Amino acid sequence: MITFDEKTKIFKLDTPNTSYVMGIADNRYLGHVYYGKKLNDTNLGYLMRTKEAPFVPSENLREKVSFFDSFPMEMPCGGVGDFRESALLVSCKGQEAAELFYVSHEIFHGKKKLKGLPATWGENCDTLEITMEDEVLGLQVVLSYTAFTDTDAIARSLRLVNGGSGDLYVKKALSACVDMDQKDFEFLSLFGSWARERHIETVPVGHGGISIESLRGEPGHQEHPFFALTGKNCSQDAGEAYGFHFVYSGNFLGKVKMNQFGNLRAVMGIHPDSFTWKLEPGAEFTAPEVILVYSDEGLGKMSRTYHDLYRNHLIRSPWKDKARPVLINNWEATYFEFDDEKLLSIAREASKAGIEMLVMDDGWFGHRNSDNSSLGDWQVNEDKIKGGLEHLVDEVNALGMEFGIWFEPEMISPDSDLYCNHPDWVLQMQGRVPGLAREQLVLDFSRPEVLEYVYESVASILRTANISYVKWDMNRPLADCGSSYLPEDQQGEVMHRHVLGVYELQERLLEEFPNLLLENCSGGGARFDPGMLYYSPQIWCSDDTDAVERLMIQEGTQLVYPLSAIGAHVSDCPNHATGRVTPFATRGIVAMAGTFGYELDITKIPPEEREMIPQQIEEFKKYYPLVNAGDYYRLASYRENHIYDCYELVSKNKKQAMVTFVQVMAEPNIHSRKIYLKGLEEDTVYEVEGKRYTGSTLMYAGLLIPGMWGDYQAKIIDVLAV
Ligand code: DGJ
Repeated sequence: MITFDEKTKIFKLDTPNTSYVMGIADNRYLGHVYYGKKLNDTNLGYLMRTKEAPFVPSENLREKVSFFDSFPMEMPCGGVGDFRESALLVSCKGQEAAELFYVSHEIFHGKKKLKGLPATWGENCDTLEITMEDEVLGLQVVLSYTAFTDTDAIARSLRLVNGGSGDLYVKKALSACVDMDQKDFEFLSLFGSWARERHIETVPVGHGGISIESLRGEPGHQEHPFFALTGKNCSQDAGEAYGFHFVYSGNFLGKVKMNQFGNLRAVMGIHPDSFTWKLEPGAEFTAPEVILVYSDEGLGKMSRTYHDLYRNHLIRSPWKDKARPVLINNWEATYFEFDDEKLLSIAREASKAGIEMLVMDDGWFGHRNSDNSSLGDWQVNEDKIKGGLEHLVDEVNALGMEFGIWFEPEMISPDSDLYCNHPDWVLQMQGRVPGLAREQLVLDFSRPEVLEYVYESVASILRTANISYVKWDMNRPLADCGSSYLPEDQQGEVMHRHVLGVYELQERLLEEFPNLLLENCSGGGARFDPGMLYYSPQIWCSDDTDAVERLMIQEGTQLVYPLSAIGAHVSDCPNHATGRVTPFATRGIVAMAGTFGYELDITKIPPEEREMIPQQIEEFKKYYPLVNAGDYYRLASYRENHIYDCYELVSKNKKQAMVTFVQVMAEPNIHSRKIYLKGLEEDTVYEVEGKRYTGSTLMYAGLLIPGMWGDYQAKIIDVLAV
């Protein structure tokens, strides 16, 4: 529910358990009043402290700049005296300044779409749009807030409209800013690298500030567009956590800084470096949304809120609630060395084991036999796929399996026909040789003809055969971001235009092929972000398929993403990223906390492992309703204790749960581990491994897990209400 109190000039946005409050001060400034546990009052204007020195400008104009030092500005602008982090910077005739005054507001049920951008959707929500204006610039800024009525989440975004007569240049338009009173906050973020994405890290917040960012044109492996401010002693189950998550797949900045009075300002949005957007008279610019979540029951509740929001209000795919086909992907099985016969030999063996889809990965087009050529030449290499794609797909279908295919549509190899014909289609700066990464360059998505070419390349392949699944990969970051198509004063738009181009292409693809199962991917998990989830219900989580490393990658990913979105496969050992050897059964159990599939040469693995596959698939299907829709509870973290990992999924009706326990390191002379289950009904009796316990016993007295023999052992424990 959203209210506006005319008398106090207070806006109050309520979700089931949280309130977000703003107020109009001095008849013009929009101030942030409160965000946190739900309040019943609206008489909250005192929290903006406008009756304290330095007072509001109408009362004390001689200290206007000091007012900006302390006022909790909801949309702070640069250039006029707020020296803290600004959310908006606009350049006009070479001068950078803006000052926004409240003009009007509108409250309505539901939520509007964000033009060209991914965004949350749904009926169970109300939206407040506040229009602010800078009369000097002729700029209107519409701040949009959606409060969900079924989830404790608030979505914020921004629309800029040039209502004046001159060109404006937007240098910075961050989507969210929250000013907070001093609390002993810590800053939790997800950091990593290729093959070890999204590890959790927590550091204190101090005066120097702290930030997360990407300038790679995608979120990247290294940092993630999410941070949480957590109260001291925040645990999985208790304490305060404020989550900020950006629904965007390009450059981002998230920053928190403590000011001279010990108060915090937290901001998030498109990174202002490498960004300028020209706004001609009448033109609009929409900044993507940030999802704010507040929990007073620790990180666990924050995670469950994000999971519910993304499952019910972000992912749109018809596959959203369906079990995805169990696939086998040939990447780690063959890399580039395959032909139709090799693929069919894998498919034959896979179909016998009950695997439902074959995915043909990189290397099927142009003359690509390694990663040094052919990106952009999306024609089937008939030396490898003899008889053509349709023939191969028909053969796979005849085995009772579906067929999926890999693309990397944003890229171009210098060694390609496309590059020979259109060298100007590449991102490059005048007079500079663009830098290679994985021996490839990036296409200029500002050019309409490039988008058209790429769309037709992908769509025409999908039109030729019965293809059910596409893996959309991206294996290098953006650099040399110049466009020979855009005029000089729009070169700063290239990186955002790239992301908009990706969104446009995926939207078009899903319109033409509505039942397509799309999986996004970027050299593993470099573009695992909520924006991509709007298009694909699942994203490849990491090129690291090692069961132990995956525990940490998946724990960080599960912190904000539903398990049904996390691409996870069983691969061969020694693992290709770590060299570690883990039991096949453990690899299966770890991959079940995701979309589940195989990525190995099934014709070569030991027969005893092959024989385990039908049983693993059966188990995955049995547990899938919990993986897809259950409430996630973390019981223990290998990242923290260095011995074992444990998580639980509980059905919404609390009648069923599964507990995954992985003993990473065997411990001598310790005969059992006690785990405390969560999220059950206290008085309900549950059956666990043939014994009966009440929910209260399992949660408060605990369950004993007998020690297992050896490292890397795992099991799933069923918990069923009697
Ligand atoms: C990176 C992906 O993460 C891998 O799974 C694989 O598709 C390769 N790219 C292919 O080049």
